[in-house]
Amino acid sequence: MLFEPINIADMTVSNRLVRSATNEWLAEDDGTPTEAIGDIYEELAKNEVGLIITGYSYVDLKGKSNDRQQGIYDDRSIAPYRAITTRVHKYDSRIFLQIVHGGRQSLVTDSDSILAPSAVKDTSSGKTPVAMSQEDIQQTIRDFVAATRRAKDAGFDGVQLHCAHGFLLSSFISPYTNKREDQWGGSVENRTRIITEIMSGIRKTVGEDFPVMVKMNATDGFDVFSGKVGLDAPECVEIASLLEKGGVCAIEVSGGIFETGEVMAQPDIDSLDKEAYFKRYAKMIRGTVNIPVILVGGIRSRFVMDLMFKGYADMISMSRPFISEPDLVIKLKNGAESARCVSCNQCFDPEGIRCNFDFGDGMP
Ligand SMILES: Cc1cc2nc3c(=O)[nH]c(=O)nc-3n(C[C@H](O)[C@H](O)[C@H](O)COP(=O)(O)O)c2cc1C
Repeated sequence: MLFEPINIADMTVSNRLVRSATNEWLAEDDGTPTEAIGDIYEELAKNEVGLIITGYSYVDLKGKSNDRQQGIYDDRSIAPYRAITTRVHKYDSRIFLQIVHGGRQSLVTDSDSILAPSAVKDTSSGKTPVAMSQEDIQQTIRDFVAATRRAKDAGFDGVQLHCAHGFLLSSFISPYTNKREDQWGGSVENRTRIITEIMSGIRKTVGEDFPVMVKMNATDGFDVFSGKVGLDAPECVEIASLLEKGGVCAIEVSGGIFETGEVMAQPDIDSLDKEAYFKRYAKMIRGTVNIPVILVGGIRSRFVMDLMFKGYADMISMSRPFISEPDLVIKLKNGAESARCVSCNQCFDPEGIRCNFDFGDGMP
């Protein structure tokens, strides 16, 4: 199954392996993607990753989360992005641009311009965002639509709306961060509305057939004893269903927000039972929707990858393993039993992404 092709909307992907979106800290200060970013994606394409999802790219300056993050808020970035997609398309890989607004996790934005559905203090940064006005919301919808149009012009095969990890769209779908009482808050349908409105804007502007997928939080990851009620099952299943109805062509299932720490990229995945830590959510979502479900989070061994095709997911997505081994797909094809990644999280490196674990074999 792992090496069989799959269709996402009308697009064929040559195998079931996805490089999950991974920020590189390698863009110019104004968000322009660099040749060094292109080097990473070309290396992955050369090594037969079926689908590459870029690091998160901000759709508006107010939604920037970290220094040297990629941005797509201006037509100026179309040409440098085109240079990257051209390099990837020399090979049989597809590349999607992940687009994001940082929302309450826009950590390099002036404190009084941090936007969120509601003014709920972020206990990890100590900052309280400004509740968005109707005009802020409409402008953000337009920003996501314009970013998608730029991505299409730059030759991307599709975009992924970042609706996970506590960033703006994720904070709209979560009852912990969305306390609104208007049409953008309250019911699950209202909390999902900003995403479905972005979808209709995209369809009007770039047409019916440009693939748009979503990476969504299935859980914000709060401990049941924390007293905080975040997004979790069964609401995430309802949201997935609304996204499918809204025209989303695939769903990548993830979890965690800044306030819940390492829920997203769990450390020390050193046994089979720790792998695929969002699998129960993926199974519930896959049981409801009829579009491909992509599972991310701690998948390391061939055994677990194969197991996930038995009802949990249609594609296997990884981030940290591909930082350590860009040629992992080839190794798996040649019989490797597992990725070598030890999930030490030293790859979160603001100096530029790299595997910083010492394997003692002279490799970086
Ligand atoms: C260095 C680093 C940067 C990341 N950047 C992004 C990002 O830009 N967008 C995103 O959706 N997830 C991002 N993630 C999360 C991963 O895509 C993935 O969901 C998470 O690491 C769990 O998968 P893994 O166990 O295969 O690493 C990042 C993870 C790492 C390690």
